[in-house]
Amino acid sequence: MPVSFTLVRKDSACSARLGLLHTPHGTVETPIFMPVGTQATVKTMTPEEVRDVGGRLILSNTYHLYLRPGHELVREAGGLHRFMNWSGPILTDSGGFQVFSLGPLRRVSEEGVTFRSHIDGSEHFFSPEKAMEVQLALGSDIAMAFDECAPYPCSREYALEALERTTRWARRSAAAHQSETQGLFGIVQGGTFPDLREKSARELVELDFPGYAIGGLSVGEPKQIMYEMLDHTVEFLPEDKPRYLMGVGSPDCLVEGVVRGIDMFDCVLPTRIARNGSVFTRQGKLVVRNAEYARDFSPLDPTCDCYTCRNYSRAYIRHLIKAGEVLGIRLTTIHNLRFVLNLMEEIKEALRQGEIMEFRDRFLSTYQAV
Ligand code: GUN
Ligand code: ZN
Repeated sequence: MPVSFTLVRKDSACSARLGLLHTPHGTVETPIFMPVGTQATVKTMTPEEVRDVGGRLILSNTYHLYLRPGHELVREAGGLHRFMNWSGPILTDSGGFQVFSLGPLRRVSEEGVTFRSHIDGSEHFFSPEKAMEVQLALGSDIAMAFDECAPYPCSREYALEALERTTRWARRSAAAHQSETQGLFGIVQGGTFPDLREKSARELVELDFPGYAIGGLSVGEPKQIMYEMLDHTVEFLPEDKPRYLMGVGSPDCLVEGVVRGIDMFDCVLPTRIARNGSVFTRQGKLVVRNAEYARDFSPLDPTCDCYTCRNYSRAYIRHLIKAGEVLGIRLTTIHNLRFVLNLMEEIKEALRQGEIMEFRDRFLSTYQAV
């Protein structure tokens, strides 16, 4: 088994757990946040810097790397790890979500999805088999099944159709995926319908994947609905396998997700908002680009131990961003990644102490979620 999971400790007051995720490129502790490196780079950061802020497992995207530079080229380079100089584990998303986000540029059939490249308009076809071929060429440690993410809002009929297709595609993904060096995770769908979430989870568990992702959430639904869907999914997933909540990474959702039994998260949020001048603090999101910080010579967050906060002021970072200097967005990216990765470390420590519920209440009492 190239990928396996050790359940280390279960909390007595909620569904949270501590675990170890074993991959061909090493073991990582869970719960874990995966920085996103869509184009085989965590934007603005070197791999050494990603590691220095606490990144251990990163996510990359099949869709983007297939279109550019092409998975054959990455294979020729010796795989994604060598190509991008990241020696830790990598998880690749299957392209399902990206292709479905293309809207009018795509056409779905039972066989797969025909879509046009967002880069040059050229036509391509993705199927479960193709998604497995591309991910094997990339050489990630964890591949994701090819799925259909239904939009929000969406009718019950469509959510059912999408989840049934996702189960059939998961079966085809598993059949096409023969590897001693890569694990394959299934993805639960089902929209915002509790019984459909249950159905999807049960069908995927029958296929016996080494890990299960929860997809189709954080697509515009209220957070309370997302939390309800987590409760209606996690209870049908096996305890001894990792659970991965896809595309979620706001600090409050990380804490709430862990409490509901999630082990893995990824999100572009920390790195994306950094590039438009927003940063996380213990009080909530702060737009450092705003005029009110022009003469604020304090760090982004006085409680943060990152390189940025140890050396630079809000006023300086604001100046860099206003002036279009690339250092500005490098500094905010370093801070935001450190913020969420440090939060995950604090979460793990609270779990070790058996105090995760107290930690959640304390964190949410100062953190203003939007
Ligand atoms: N990333 C965020 N949500 C999803 C999803 O539903 N499916 C896939 N493949 N990736 C995602
Ligand atoms: Zn910082």
